[in-house]
Amino acid sequence: MTPQTPRSALPEQGRATAEVLQQLRGYDRDDPAYKDGRLWSLVYYLDPAHDDFLAQAYQAYASANGLNPGAFKSLKRFESEIIAAAARLQHGGPETCGVVTSGGTESCLLAVKTYRDLARATRRVRSPEMIVPATAHVAWFKASEYFGVRLRQLPLDDRLHADVSKLEAMINRRTVMILGSAPEYPHGSIDPIAAMGEIAQRHGVPLHVDACVGGFILPFMEMNGIALPTWDYRVPGVTSISADLHKYGFAAKGASTLTYRHLELMKHQMFVQADWPGGVFASPALLGTRPGGAYAAAWAALQHFGVDGYRELASRTSQAFERMRDGIERMPELRVLGEPLGPLLAYGSATPAVNIFAVGDQMDARGWLVNRLQFPDGLHAMITAQHLPVVDDYLRDLRDAVATVKADPSLADKGHAATYGMMAHLPLRGMVRHKVLQLFADSYRAGAAPLSLDAPDGAHAPKPLLERVAARYVAWRQRR
Ligand SMILES: Cc1ncc(COP(=O)(O)O)c(C=O)c1O
Repeated sequence: MTPQTPRSALPEQGRATAEVLQQLRGYDRDDPAYKDGRLWSLVYYLDPAHDDFLAQAYQAYASANGLNPGAFKSLKRFESEIIAAAARLQHGGPETCGVVTSGGTESCLLAVKTYRDLARATRRVRSPEMIVPATAHVAWFKASEYFGVRLRQLPLDDRLHADVSKLEAMINRRTVMILGSAPEYPHGSIDPIAAMGEIAQRHGVPLHVDACVGGFILPFMEMNGIALPTWDYRVPGVTSISADLHKYGFAAKGASTLTYRHLELMKHQMFVQADWPGGVFASPALLGTRPGGAYAAAWAALQHFGVDGYRELASRTSQAFERMRDGIERMPELRVLGEPLGPLLAYGSATPAVNIFAVGDQMDARGWLVNRLQFPDGLHAMITAQHLPVVDDYLRDLRDAVATVKADPSLADKGHAATYGMMAHLPLRGMVRHKVLQLFADSYRAGAAPLSLDAPDGAHAPKPLLERVAARYVAWRQRR
């Protein structure tokens, strides 16, 4: 606990709303500067007018609750219209159905629960397994842990694509689902959905497509004439799709969609308790109370942009993506990882003379906020329309950052580069997991300061911990 963090944030006497709001706004002082395009993850921001529009839509239904779809007819109507829009973009048929969820993770979790229960009900599978490419989002690993479905990783080929040639041999009678992503988070590649669908269908195994990132941008990129592999319900084996409204749909946070090819599948997602003293209870998704504001804002975003608005956003995003990809490809010290088609892009070092995490530090020092990747080491960019005006500045600073690191290789052993490098390269992954868990849990101790995973000098920083992990690893190697 740090002294500036009060143990209790509940004042004895209530305070005037204006004063509260003023203080609340001040809390963002140390947040990432996302409004000027410096942040390359987490946020899908356009401008203050759009934020205001979403806030007004949200506010109109902020107290409404989608728990019981029969109570707030407005919310059920928003949900049905949002799902119809998603189904249209995904080339669904008349039977396509679905729910609005609170985000990509809820959509992914639900798909796993659905297919586990489908296999249990129809094939008596008691030890379920799912096959997911190694690049699947962590939400799938979380779902595996939460729902007791063993996760089997489909390896990547040398282009960092899911190696579909290995898929068939991994299927067995315990396989309850297969996953493909469009695109996958780490490198932005679209998994070979058509080939996966053919195999899945031949074996009678459901295939879910995680289009949490792509769901509200890939269809518009395609309409804009960009050639993309087919990833949606046009692939006969695809049985369900998750697509986030709060990413490229530019809705307020807390909105995603999960659609199914037909209702017989989705029934296994639903929960009914007929004997509860609180009344007969039925719930379509993971949450109990479902936030009306998020539905309203998502519906409002879809109505506001329409196909032409989203196409325009997609076009700006593609321009930013292409400029970024071409700019990086022109730097001999760097290489684009995988074969991204947009909107995500990752790049690593093409030469041992340049440590990519040290480049990341240099980018931080120039005011950019970029995510780090591992296996292979890399830097990541979730590119949006908002980035188009700043791409050239980013590339200029990147060239500069690379030159600085090349001139001083010792930068690889300093700052965050040392921490990330250690974290990515320690072979004792169980130990890394244990230490990160310890650090993370500590940040939830009552009164703890916010977690700073990458502040080398902070009281809660992982560096000393990771250094201890490294020292234990060295000692372990010496004993062998
Ligand atoms: C491919 C993919 N799936 C799922 C998710 C999880 O989405 P959320 O963060 O909304 O829970 C993400 C998040 O980035 C993602 O990239």
